[in-house]
Amino acid sequence: MTKTTGETKGKTDIFENIYALSKRRGFIYPGSEIYGGLAGTWDYGPLGAELKRNLKNEFWKFAVWERDDVVGLDASIIMNPKVWEASGHLESFSDPLAECKKCHHRFRADKIKENKCPDCGGELTKAKKFNLMVETYLGVIEDEKQKTYLRGEITQGVHVNFKNIVSSTRVKLPFGVAQVGKAFRNEITPGQFTFRSREFEQMEIQFYTKPDADISMEWFEYWKKERMNWYVSLGMKERNLRFHKHGKDELAHYAKAAFDIEYNAGGEWKEMEGIHNRGDWDLRRHGEYSKTDMAYFDEETKEKFLPWIIETSGGVDRAALFFLIDAFFEEKTGDREFRIVLKLHPKLAPYKAAVFPLLANKPELVKLARSIYKDLKKEWMVAWDERGNIGKRYRAQDEAGTPFCVTVDFDSLEKNDITVRDRDTMKQERIKIGELKEWMKEKLQ
Ligand code: GAP
Repeated sequence: MTKTTGETKGKTDIFENIYALSKRRGFIYPGSEIYGGLAGTWDYGPLGAELKRNLKNEFWKFAVWERDDVVGLDASIIMNPKVWEASGHLESFSDPLAECKKCHHRFRADKIKENKCPDCGGELTKAKKFNLMVETYLGVIEDEKQKTYLRGEITQGVHVNFKNIVSSTRVKLPFGVAQVGKAFRNEITPGQFTFRSREFEQMEIQFYTKPDADISMEWFEYWKKERMNWYVSLGMKERNLRFHKHGKDELAHYAKAAFDIEYNAGGEWKEMEGIHNRGDWDLRRHGEYSKTDMAYFDEETKEKFLPWIIETSGGVDRAALFFLIDAFFEEKTGDREFRIVLKLHPKLAPYKAAVFPLLANKPELVKLARSIYKDLKKEWMVAWDERGNIGKRYRAQDEAGTPFCVTVDFDSLEKNDITVRDRDTMKQERIKIGELKEWMKEKLQ
């Protein structure tokens, strides 16, 4: 069996293949498509919504449920605008923008090698700083509307709640706060499918440590490893992952040190997650701007200090895109036959199983298949299909990434068993109906 994977295809192929599959099967659609779309916005279809939900649930389990030293938070998207003054985003959260003097298209100057417009070859203006914060207005009286912002990172909701969390829970340093939620950026050049969007989701841990360079860097190294292992544990191929250390000119305004986890998307290494040492930047600035004492009191040493912060900040949409790319295979199944299959980790797969009656016009098969389907649905997201022939149903489920297809046939009526077909090996085995759920539980670990 020959295989063509993301590694052997060019980057355009990969993004185009995934885009076509996403549209065809209902993973991701262009935002507001019937109105011509809106650049940098995407809608997740029925399968995409499940994939993203599974990804976020796995992150939450990893970050919060399975640990004693991290708690969860769900803060507002819209915050007092002073937050963004304090965090430095209003001053420093910008990209260099250059405009073509001929066609007036705008570009990120740091992504263009020559001073020529990529669209028409015209000369570009000198780069200007362009702030990425998305403005919005609150209030019911036109003249008195208050200008504020949709959060540019989910991070600040955690730091402004630092004191609340310390006083309302039993956390002691070192401890972390995890959050998942939407962020918004007025990206100059959104593109490469969902890779650079204007609305996207982040999954983060803000981990507070003692203000000591050695201690904080130990935690930095710890979280780098933990986050890399998390992607691998969910099936991402290790050879497609690497760390990229930020040089001095790349560091964000808040960062003392930073590494990205990058993914090799068809030969191009792309940022998927950032691990940052933020020092005491956020707590210090919020203390100054809100005139609140943000210090932590260490009961053991009786010291008061501003903790340092190690941050892990992943993009849910980027991870979803890269998991799709990583799982995408075009396989030869016969002389002239190919199948497209998404070998997603079962924990991420939108449907855990699909149930079919062998023939849709045999009520006794449909009845038994339906009862198995309903029973499985109590535990998992499960698909039902009775259209066309069994081969077509398998192909549809392969493209959706469904790990197991369960078929009820005439033998099932006599012997109380069904056929389970494995997505990756395409092998089939007979399993007793009464044992199916336990069998699946084991396989879905
Ligand atoms: N709190 C730190 C922070 O926001 P970042 O490196 O700017 O750091 C973290 O963003 C992650 O958010 C990125 O690694 C990426 O996965 C995701 N991300 C950032 N901008 C994005 C965009 N325009 N579209 C999709 N995902 C984005």
